[in-house]
Amino acid sequence: MQEMTKMEKIVGLCKRRGFVYQGSEIYGGLAGTWDYGPLGVALKNNIKKLWWERFVLGREDVYGLDAAIIMNPAAWVASGHAQGFADPAVQCKKCGAYWRTDHVIASQLVEEGNYLCPLGSCRTALGTEEELNKQSKSFNMMFTTSVGAGEESAIKTYLRPETAGGIFVNYKNVLDSMHPKLPFGIAQIGKAFRNEIAPRDFLFRAREFEQMEIEYFINPKTWETTFEEWREEMHGWIKAIGLPVSMVHELEVPKEDLAHYSRRTIDFEFDYPFGRSELYGMAYRTDFDLASHAQASGVDLTYFDEATGERFLPHVIEPSLGVDRTALALLYASYTEDSMNEDSRVFLKLSPRLAPVTVAVFPLLRNKTELVARAREIYALLRQAQVGAVVFDDNGNVGKRYRRQDEIGTPWCVTVDFDTLGEKPEARDTVTLRDRDTGKQERVNINELTDILESKLV
Ligand code: GAP
Repeated sequence: MQEMTKMEKIVGLCKRRGFVYQGSEIYGGLAGTWDYGPLGVALKNNIKKLWWERFVLGREDVYGLDAAIIMNPAAWVASGHAQGFADPAVQCKKCGAYWRTDHVIASQLVEEGNYLCPLGSCRTALGTEEELNKQSKSFNMMFTTSVGAGEESAIKTYLRPETAGGIFVNYKNVLDSMHPKLPFGIAQIGKAFRNEIAPRDFLFRAREFEQMEIEYFINPKTWETTFEEWREEMHGWIKAIGLPVSMVHELEVPKEDLAHYSRRTIDFEFDYPFGRSELYGMAYRTDFDLASHAQASGVDLTYFDEATGERFLPHVIEPSLGVDRTALALLYASYTEDSMNEDSRVFLKLSPRLAPVTVAVFPLLRNKTELVARAREIYALLRQAQVGAVVFDDNGNVGKRYRRQDEIGTPWCVTVDFDTLGEKPEARDTVTLRDRDTGKQERVNINELTDILESKLV
C-alpha cells in the first residue's frame, strides 16, 4: 500500500465515520484547526483518561492541575515566550505563502542552487540558503488576545503556547496546599495554541491542539537519573497504548536546536506516512522557569529540604505529550486492510481501552421483536456494567454491521440470535462474541459476558 494513499484513506475514514472534521468546514475551513466528531472525541478522551490514570492516579508523587488558558502576560515575558517563541519565516513573492525557513531548507527542493517554494503548484525559486537566511523574518507563534472592555483599559495577553506555563505559576500553590516532598510532579492536560507558519499533515501540526504535560520537580543533583527514569516511563506509555515500538525512535536534540529553556531534550519520533517526525518531547528545563518567575514576580519559589536543611530552586524534567499526535499515530499504526470470508475489509487495530466503542450489541434481525428486546436487555446490562462504551446496532445485515464496527476499531461484537432465545435448548441464554482482529466467534453465556469482557479489557 502506498504510504500517502494510506494517509488519504485515514483522513477519509476520519471524516466519513465521525472521527475528525475540518475546522469550520461549512465556511471553507480555517487552516490548522480540526474538529473532533463523536468517535474522535471518544478516542481522545480514552487517551487522556489512560494518561491521567497512569501518571496521576497511578502515582503518589504527581498532582493534577487545570490552570486557566489565559494568563497574566507577565508570565509569558518571564518564561521567555513573548520574546523568543518565534520561528524564522520566508514569504514566497509569487504565491504569497509563508514558510518556515528551516522547513524550506529541509525540503531539499533545490534548482540551480536556489531553494524552491514548497507549494506544489508554485515551485518559484526563493533563493540560496544564504539569501533565505537574510530574508527570514522572526515570527512569534503566540496568539494574542485582549482581556477587558474598552481599547485603553483592555490588556493584551496570549493564548498559552504550552500547558507548562500554568504549571510553573502554580508550583508554589501546590507546594503550599499539598505539602509534597521532592521529587514531585504536577500534571496537566489542556489546549495549547500556536500560530504555526505552515500548519500541515492533518493533525500533526495544528494551530490549536492538546498537550498532556508533567513538570517533575527535582533536586538538581538527581537530574540525570530522573531523566533516565522518565525516558523509561515514556517508552512504557508508548507500549501501553499499543504503538509499535519499531515505529518510535529517540532523537537526541542537538545543542543548537534546543528550546531556550532546555539543557537537554530527547524527541520521541514516530514514522508517520510523511516521514519520521516528533511525537513527544522530554526536556531537562533546569530551574530556568522557576528562576525566571521568581525574579519577575518577586515571589520566593525556593524549596526547603527538611532532611538536609538545604534551600534551593528545584530543577525540572518535563515529559510533554501531544494528544492529537498520539491520535494520529494510533490511527496510522492501527489502520489495517485484510480480507475476511473472501471479502476485503478495513479495521483499526486499536487497543480495546482506546477504541471509541468497546462493544457493539446486535439483534440478528431487526424485524423480530423478541430478538430486539433481548438484545436491548443485553445492551442495558453491558452499559450498567461499565465495560467501556457500548452501542446498539440493528442497521443492515450482520456482516455489514461487523464491517462497520471493524472500521472504527470496535474490539467486540455481541450478537443475539434465535439460539439465545432457546431455538437450540442447549444454547439458550448464550450469545456470540466476535473478535475484531481474528473474526472468530465464540458462544458465551450471558451471565458470564461482563466478566469475560472485563478480563479482556485489563
Ligand atoms: N512544554 C514543552 C513543549 O511544549 P514542544 O515540543 O513544543 O514542547 C510538546 O511540544 C508536544 O506537543 C510535541 O511533542 C507534540 O506532541 C505536541 N505539539 C507541539 N506542537 C504541535 C502542533 N502544532 N500541533 C500538534 N501537536 C503539537
